[in-house]
Amino acid sequence: MTLNHLKLINEAHKIAKKNFGKTFPNPVVGCIIAKKNTIISRGVTSNSGRPHAEEIAIKKAGKRAKGSTMYVTLEPCFHNSSNGSCTDQILRAGIKKIYISSVDPDIRTKNKSIKKLKDNKVFVIEGLESEKTYLLNKFFFTSLKKQRPFIKVKMAISSDEKIAWHNYQSKWISNSKSRKLAHIIRSKSQAILTTAKTIIKDDPRFTIRLQGKIDHLNIIIIDNFLKIPIKSKILQDIKKRIIIFTSNKKSKKIIKLQNLGCEVILIKKNKLGNLNLNTIVKKIYNLKISDVLVEAGGIFFSSLVKSNLIDELHIFQSNFSIGKKGIPVLIDKKIHDLKTNLLEKRKIDNNYYYKYNFFN
Ligand SMILES: NC(=O)c1ccc[n+]([C@@H]2O[C@H](COP(=O)([O-])OP(=O)(O)OC[C@H]3O[C@@H](n4cnc5c(N)ncnc54)[C@H](OP(=O)(O)O)[C@@H]3O)[C@@H](O)[C@H]2O)c1
Repeated sequence: MTLNHLKLINEAHKIAKKNFGKTFPNPVVGCIIAKKNTIISRGVTSNSGRPHAEEIAIKKAGKRAKGSTMYVTLEPCFHNSSNGSCTDQILRAGIKKIYISSVDPDIRTKNKSIKKLKDNKVFVIEGLESEKTYLLNKFFFTSLKKQRPFIKVKMAISSDEKIAWHNYQSKWISNSKSRKLAHIIRSKSQAILTTAKTIIKDDPRFTIRLQGKIDHLNIIIIDNFLKIPIKSKILQDIKKRIIIFTSNKKSKKIIKLQNLGCEVILIKKNKLGNLNLNTIVKKIYNLKISDVLVEAGGIFFSSLVKSNLIDELHIFQSNFSIGKKGIPVLIDKKIHDLKTNLLEKRKIDNNYYYKYNFFN
């Protein structure tokens, strides 16, 4: 079979895409090794981030890797892994040609591997389909640049932009197909960021329910006064990290929460008495969480907008209105007032789904 370079680099992208969401905080990378236009091995970043895609593909290819061509979606690492850097493994395997979609923005590698490969007489072609690497791993490129997680907000709203009825009832705004998509968005996230108020009003589980299976996410809770009920569902069934931000350093509840397995992080209040969101997102990033999905109410959403901390917005809009007494999605603003551009608009039965990019 005759295969061209574009097809092979796109095959590397295709296998990477399949594993997206499983390698956080690491980017997902796809790698193909070919010889005489025939694929001899494939590799994709493993779920824990290590081994890397290149290491897996080289191992699978064995001695056949000598004299072969590699197609990889991100510049191979320069820094050491247990078997030496991927760059050293490529050199040891005798790979002669390498197509790299995108330079690694991580300064530990950035252009260093490309230089080392070239210095060792490997033929390097860089930049083929680089936009695909960026779009798939937007969280990685953005979080590294901004030194905070990639922040997505998901909201189900009525036609008059309310997120709940006056009694804070918020179930059933979106339809079941929209809710399925919302679970897919969760499955592509590293953590959910929410408020104690949303937990008190909704008592959510924040699980991923897809194809009859239940999966769990890390959960981060903003809880200035440590109001979260110990009996709330998410505290009764802790499967992943639960991180709580509070300023309430004297509360006896801290020990109770820690005994349940929560990580409690103390933050100073700002002049308005709120927790500083810029400090919180930096702390989240330092905890190796690079991608968060915000599922909270309109007050918190408005604070994030004010602090320029949103990268992506997912809106599910119903065809009915809730009325003036409903809880608004934004304080003193409408969705179209936000500095965004529309990436996607889709009709889902009687709902509309909108995906926006934020200009920050
Ligand atoms: N439709 C949907 O998609 C959706 C999604 C999630 C939630 N909801 C609904 O939203 C309702 C709650 O919305 P909400 O707007 O009233 O509350 P919210 O946005 O969930 O929480 C706001 C509260 O968070 C606390 N907070 C701490 N630091 C903050 C900061 N820096 N900035 C802003 N808030 C901070 C404040 O409470 P303290 O003063 O106590 O610290 C504030 O009152 C619930 O009914 C829930 O069901 C709907």
